[in-house]
Amino acid sequence: MKFESLRISGLRCLDGVAVTPAAGINVFVGPNGAGKTSVLEAAYLLSHGRSFRAGSRDVLLKRGAGSLSVYAEVRKADGSLRRLGLGREGGRWQARVDGDPTASLGALVQECAVVCFEPGSHDLIAGSSDERRRYLDWGMFHVEHGFVGQWRRYQRALKQRNTLLRQGGYPDPSLLEPWEMELAAAGESITTYRRDYLSRVVPHIQGFMGNVLPELGAFSLRYRPGWDESSDLAATLVERRQRDLSRGHTTVGPHRADFSVAFEHAPLREHLSRGQEKLCALACLLGQASLHAELRGEWPVVCLDDLASELDRTHQEWVVGQLLGRDVQVFVTGTEVPSALVGQPVALFHVEHGLVGPG
Ligand SMILES: Nc1ncnc2c1ncn2[C@@H]1O[C@H](COP(=O)(O)OP(=O)(O)O)[C@@H](O)[C@H]1O
Ligand SMILES: [Mg+2]
Repeated sequence: MKFESLRISGLRCLDGVAVTPAAGINVFVGPNGAGKTSVLEAAYLLSHGRSFRAGSRDVLLKRGAGSLSVYAEVRKADGSLRRLGLGREGGRWQARVDGDPTASLGALVQECAVVCFEPGSHDLIAGSSDERRRYLDWGMFHVEHGFVGQWRRYQRALKQRNTLLRQGGYPDPSLLEPWEMELAAAGESITTYRRDYLSRVVPHIQGFMGNVLPELGAFSLRYRPGWDESSDLAATLVERRQRDLSRGHTTVGPHRADFSVAFEHAPLREHLSRGQEKLCALACLLGQASLHAELRGEWPVVCLDDLASELDRTHQEWVVGQLLGRDVQVFVTGTEVPSALVGQPVALFHVEHGLVGPG
C-alpha cells in the first residue's frame, strides 16, 4: 500500500499539515525538534493504533489542543483507494474507514500497514517481552484473519478470570472453570497461529540477516508460549490457581509468551552489541514486511527514522539498495539527505517548526 495523502492536525507540533508523498522514497529533512519523527508517528498511528515512541496514545495530542486527527488516502495494490482516519475529539478516539465513523480501531489497523525502524527499535531484541508479542501480533493481525477472533476471545476470558482472582477469597471453581476452558482453547489456538507465523517469517528474516550480520553465522529464533508445555494450558491454569490468586492475575498463557533470538556465534542476546541489536531488529522488521508482501501482494510502507544516525554508511547503503529495487513506499527522516540517498530519485520534504513543505 502507498499513502497518496496524509493530513495531520493536533499531533505533537504538527497542525494543519498536508503531505502528498511520492510512490517511492520520500525524505523528510529538517533540524532537531522540527517534527520529522512526528510525521512518521502519524503514519504509524493508522497502522498500529499507537505510536512507536513510549507513552500512551494521548501524549501525541498537541499541548493545549482539544483534538487530534490523522487522515490518509491509501492506494492498494489492486488499484482501490481507501480513506482512513484516526482522531481524538472530546477525549474519545475514533477510527474511520471510507467515511464510516463507526469503524473499529481493529478494522482501521487491518487496512493500513506501516513498519518503522527507529532509534528505539533495538527494544525488539533487548526490551521487554511486550515488544516482541506486539511484533508477532501485528504481523498476524495483517495476514491471518482467524487470529483476531481468537485474540479477542482470549482477552475477554483473561479479564474475567483476573476479575475473579481479585474478588478476595478463593473463587468458586465452578465460576473459574468456564473461563479457564475459554482461555485454554483460545490460548492454544493463538499459540498455533504464532508458531505458524514464525515458521513463515523466519526464512524472510534469515534472508536479510545473512546480509546485515554475516559475521554472526546462522540465525535462529525460539518461541516460548507462556507456559511450560509439558502439560497443556487447561491443566496448567488449574494447577496455577493458588499462585495466581496470590498474585492477583493470571501468570501463564500466551499473554506471557516471548521469543529469543540466537546466532551460531552469539547464542545469547547478551552477546550482541547495541549496534548488532539494531541490525537484528532491522532484519526482523524487513523480514516481517517481506512476508507481508508475499502474502498480501504488496509491501507495507517502510519508515526509517533518523537513518543516518542509526546505521553506519555500509548498512545505510545496503538498506537503501534493498528498498530501491522493490515496489515499496519509503519515508526516511534526517537532518540532511542521508549520503546513501544522494543522487537517488527521491521526493524531498523540508520540515521546520512543525510545517512540512517541498524540499
Ligand atoms: N504533545 C506535544 N505537544 C506539542 N509539542 C510536542 C508534543 N510532544 C512533542 N512535542 C514537540 O514536537 C517537536 C517535534 O518533535 P519530533 O517530531 O521528535 O522532531 P524531530 O524528529 O524533527 O527531531 C519537538 O520540538 C517536541 O518538543
Ligand atoms: Mg526525530
